[in-house]
Amino acid sequence: MTKIEAKLEDIEKVAKINIGKNLKYYILTMGCQLNENDSEKLCGMIEKMNYTKTENLNDADLIVFNTCCVRENAEDRLFGKLGEVKKYKEEKGTIIAIGGCMMQEKHIVEKLKESYPFFDIVFGTHTLHKFPTDLYKIINNRKRIEDILDIDGEVIEGLPISREDNVKASVTIMNGCNNFCSYCIVPYVRGRERSRMPKDILTEIKNLAKMGYKEITLLGQNVNSYLRVEKEKNIEFEEYEGVNSFATLLQAINKIDGIERIRFISPHPKDFTDDVIEAICNCQKVCKLVHLPLQSGSTNVLKQMNRKYTKEQYLSLVKKMKAKIPNVTFSTDIIVGFPGETEEDFEDTLDVVRKVGFEQVYMFIYSRRVGTPGDKMENQIPEEIKHERFDRLKQLVESQIEARNKEYLGTIQKVLIEGKSKNNDNMLTGRTDSNKVVVLEGTESLIGKIVLVKITSEHMWYLKGKEES
Ligand code: SAH
Ligand code: SF4
Ligand code: F3S
Repeated sequence: MTKIEAKLEDIEKVAKINIGKNLKYYILTMGCQLNENDSEKLCGMIEKMNYTKTENLNDADLIVFNTCCVRENAEDRLFGKLGEVKKYKEEKGTIIAIGGCMMQEKHIVEKLKESYPFFDIVFGTHTLHKFPTDLYKIINNRKRIEDILDIDGEVIEGLPISREDNVKASVTIMNGCNNFCSYCIVPYVRGRERSRMPKDILTEIKNLAKMGYKEITLLGQNVNSYLRVEKEKNIEFEEYEGVNSFATLLQAINKIDGIERIRFISPHPKDFTDDVIEAICNCQKVCKLVHLPLQSGSTNVLKQMNRKYTKEQYLSLVKKMKAKIPNVTFSTDIIVGFPGETEEDFEDTLDVVRKVGFEQVYMFIYSRRVGTPGDKMENQIPEEIKHERFDRLKQLVESQIEARNKEYLGTIQKVLIEGKSKNNDNMLTGRTDSNKVVVLEGTESLIGKIVLVKITSEHMWYLKGKEES
């Protein structure tokens, strides 16, 4: 029996036990799009095991928390939630499963056992596919299970998946990270970088296209090093439709009928080779918004962060892309208050923000992560300085976004309609190529289509427009 057959057999076993019981599950995903994509796989398996989704904790027979640990607030959130679900466990024996990145941290699992011992399953990032087996064991003998692997688990292809959206889909193209930026916990909890095979990725995307999906977001911690480790270590991989790098992957996806838009997060500035820039330029389906994580604008801080590029290299990369890719726009991630960041260093960050003019900036206050080199650095920045810098950065970013929004007024944008607006049932919502939210009037028949929209008003986080006839 192959590994995937064994997994599907466990799913069948639980499904049989659950049949006719009208069981429900609740899932809460914390963290990034990779985690969301993992949750979609969990949902796929859980639904095949005859649970239906509920948004109410108190209706659930199975509660799953898929955790993140990239910053401290994620931990506070999990412990808060666990406090909340304890009563359901006591009242009706709800099965409680906790998985994801935080479970790869030994001190957290210890804390769980000490302070929240009522959980049934903890599973890590390398054992996602074993969830049905763990659940089967719990249903049978209710003995708590810890299913966490330290080593890089195999990624099993072909598990069921239940996707959140029916216009846009995320596809993980690689797992893990080898960069060890000194602030970041991800390499420790997601393991070493490994790429999925071209054939598996392309088959998945072709199937998504057949199902009517229009937009694909390729996910990975360092997408533009796709297949690099395999090449460096002479790990055999099978080329498929000419795909042997990130640039060729973009080109192959660009040819898939039905897919209209391709996005990717996150590339690393140090690996932004010319072939990728050319692919963005030549592939008409690849969106011209490039998410290019800056983290800091100071060469000193970047060195301490182990990012492997300087302020000047970042700016010249942006300059090169602006020259080569018509209508290119940028978004970024920035951390303020990394150990040793001086006022001058912070000014460098503001300087890069002013020079690039980002469409969107995801701003973070540096958070110490146990086990990372950053945590051991002595010159930690006091909280009030971190907050003060964060507020100054936020002000600059918001004033830039306001100015950028004004430039959209009166323009005609290609908007992929994603669905009804959450706040107003009579309105539709969609996104421009540059990922700006656009709200407009229109009928449901437009959902999943790219329509031309004239922008009529701008607001901080969205634009309003009218369909061009
Ligand atoms: N692999 C991606 C990002 C992964 S984590 C990349 O390299 O861009 C997402 C973002 O969280 C990072 O870009 C960074 O800005 C932020 N982040 C990571 N660790 C952090 C920490 N310890 N404190 C604050 N922000 C952090
Ligand atoms: Fe973390 Fe750096 Fe890897 Fe991104 S590239 S996941 S920031 S270590
Ligand atoms: Fe993502 Fe958080 Fe894990 S950002 S990779 S879910 S630590």
